[in-house]
Amino acid sequence: MHSMLANARSILDKYGQQHLLKFYEELDGRQQEALLSQILETDFELITRLYNGLAAGSHDRKLPSDLKPLKSFDWSGCSEEEKKRHFDTGMKAIKDGRVAAVLVAGGQGTRLGYDGPKGTFKLDIPSGKSLFQIQCERLAKLSRDAGSVIPWYIMTSQENNRDTVEFFEANNFFGYPREDMFFFIQDSLPVVDEQGKILLSDKGRISSGPNGNGGCFAALEKSGALRDMERRGVEWIFLYGVDNALIRVADPAFVGFTINSKMPASSKVVKKARPEEKVAVFCYCDGKPYLIEYSELPEELMYKRDEKGDLVFADGSIAIHLFRRDFIEKYALSGLPYHIAHKKIPHVDSCGNHVKPEKPNAYKFEMFMFDIFAYLPDLVAFRVAREEEFAPVKNAEGEDSPATAKALLLGLHKKWLLEAGVPEKLLEGREVEISPLTSYAGEGLDVGEIIKKLETAGKRVVL
Ligand code: UTP
Repeated sequence: MHSMLANARSILDKYGQQHLLKFYEELDGRQQEALLSQILETDFELITRLYNGLAAGSHDRKLPSDLKPLKSFDWSGCSEEEKKRHFDTGMKAIKDGRVAAVLVAGGQGTRLGYDGPKGTFKLDIPSGKSLFQIQCERLAKLSRDAGSVIPWYIMTSQENNRDTVEFFEANNFFGYPREDMFFFIQDSLPVVDEQGKILLSDKGRISSGPNGNGGCFAALEKSGALRDMERRGVEWIFLYGVDNALIRVADPAFVGFTINSKMPASSKVVKKARPEEKVAVFCYCDGKPYLIEYSELPEELMYKRDEKGDLVFADGSIAIHLFRRDFIEKYALSGLPYHIAHKKIPHVDSCGNHVKPEKPNAYKFEMFMFDIFAYLPDLVAFRVAREEEFAPVKNAEGEDSPATAKALLLGLHKKWLLEAGVPEKLLEGREVEISPLTSYAGEGLDVGEIIKKLETAGKRVVL
């Protein structure tokens, strides 16, 4: 312990962070050891470089110049025959064990304000299923249809790993084969105040947070997940976030289309609802695929239309990507730029009092997964129907909230039932949900059985 303390002191002296030991003498032995370990594991060099870069303005994203449109492939415009060809390619790849799903679930979900990992959040739908369970059952259904289990890699953070794993354990992993699930933890970074001093969240604990969803690439490598994929013969990585209630995990159409297009990567997009919609859009920047933030898109490009009257920069990202594994392997440790967020972070002040700031008081540094595109020679933007595939749960209320996600999910299931031939009057006044174990994307609904069930069902039904 003595040598740990001496080491910690000399590191803190070097980086001007001595205040982290200010309350050391007040801690009990266990707390002291925990704090020293945290200090010894912290990358002070990185955090100093990031803060100094901030002060020097080097994190300000240079406004991109040479912007060209990236034309998306519109799935809805594809013939039935072509759709089947791509779908069959994807199913074959899944059957052969060449596709893995990677979920990034290390975020803090501050906007939702829910106490717990966001994936454990239960939607107010008839089944009351959590976001994790919905995804798990979609994977299970697809695995069953393909005849091979899709390996599922779940990234958590230091903050939510235990709660996440315990949630799955308590639910018996929703029946998913445990040997095909792999939990791994992304790196964390300390939070600094406006003077570059690392904050304490408690007298004996450094305030830190996950290093952004872009931390997934290094974490996949360092955790051994990429090696596990190699051992299994995985060639394609389906990468997605935790909070889309309509996510088609490992979507065979998307996988098959990408394989047939011979591209190293692809990304799902939806058509922008209006030119000013606050969504990042795909384009080329200096000849490379690039996701441009809505705030960076010059006005003349935002409103630019082609000869048919369609917006030229029209494809909004929904953060669903597919990458060839060898590509990720090659660049996993190459590093991505850090983005800065100025946030309100509760902490312990120099007198030892807990402070809940009213205005932003600290900086967090995060990597974003889309920055990996800079390493790509090219990419396909795969346009899908927003109402079929995108129901984000971001905010507690209003836009992109549990209420809008519920309405989108039940609205889509109603559409599937009507298309399958279920009479509308049987659906009126009811909330009818289709289990992912019954249907992945609206296929295979047994109308006779469904009508029989609905004739005697209550107001909230799960089929
Ligand atoms: P968001 O950008 O919505 O962030 O994450 P968040 O932390 O979940 O929510 P807010 O902004 O605090 O409200 C998009 C996806 O990236 C994951 C999230 O879990 C989500 O699936 N993510 C985000 C990580 O895995 N790690 C991170 O460090 C940040």
